[in-house]
Amino acid sequence: MNNHPTGNRSERERPSAATLPSHVAIIMDGNGRWARARGERRTAGHKAGLVAVRAIYRHCLNRGIGALTVFAFSSENWGRPAEEVMVLMGLFMDAFDEDVPALHRGGVRVRFVGERTVLNADLQRRMAETEALTAGNTRLNLQVALSYGGRRDIVLAAQRLAGACESGALRSHDIDEQRFAGALALQALPDPDLFIRTGGERRISNFLLWNLAYTELYFTDTLWPDFDPAAMDLALADFASRQRRFGLTGDQVHGA
Ligand code: FPP
Repeated sequence: MNNHPTGNRSERERPSAATLPSHVAIIMDGNGRWARARGERRTAGHKAGLVAVRAIYRHCLNRGIGALTVFAFSSENWGRPAEEVMVLMGLFMDAFDEDVPALHRGGVRVRFVGERTVLNADLQRRMAETEALTAGNTRLNLQVALSYGGRRDIVLAAQRLAGACESGALRSHDIDEQRFAGALALQALPDPDLFIRTGGERRISNFLLWNLAYTELYFTDTLWPDFDPAAMDLALADFASRQRRFGLTGDQVHGA
């Protein structure tokens, strides 16, 4: 694992620990356009996208960011051309062979969020093995959203809680925000502090709808395969300049 900080930004420009997000969520958009701009097939963009995500999780380790959640495949992505879906599934399988050993050595805990039962059996098996292998790691929590949809996540949480009520394990008036959040895919993980979307679109696209309620949003035109650690540092610096108020006034936040 490469532990050397990458990019050209100096130490002076680094965000301090106090202003560093604990949890970053990323929509990795723009792979297809990146490939098309080079006269290549869209799938070449996804391959380049996998290279980019490797550099970003290493950068999170280097920076001491505790959690990273990446949107690798949405529930809506199943509607893409069959060949593209197949290549993406193949890339996910490659990642188990090529990335999981290094992630494990680096102290990364890997978890998958989304509807895994619709994925093929091999993929499901590798996902379960990876989660078991890395369960004790604490340096970075890496969540990979695969066949994930934010609305579906909320519906499934409601079903889980309703089931607990039906069985008598829970009373409906005991359902509060904390309990509801615990029934969602990210469970006890703190909400993302910073959301990054590459590729120029300015929307959330059904990602982590509940968890992004107070997240700082950062959009960049950079296409995902070009989003390198230096580009991420720009996002971190932008985050460091934000005043997070969580519905309070600026004076309250500053204790004036
Ligand atoms: C969106 O770009 C990207 C995806 C649907 C796939 C993301 C997958 C990877 C980056 C590779 C593997 C990742 C992991 C974590 C193993 P797009 O195809 O919508 O791009 P476009 O908007 O330019 O068409």
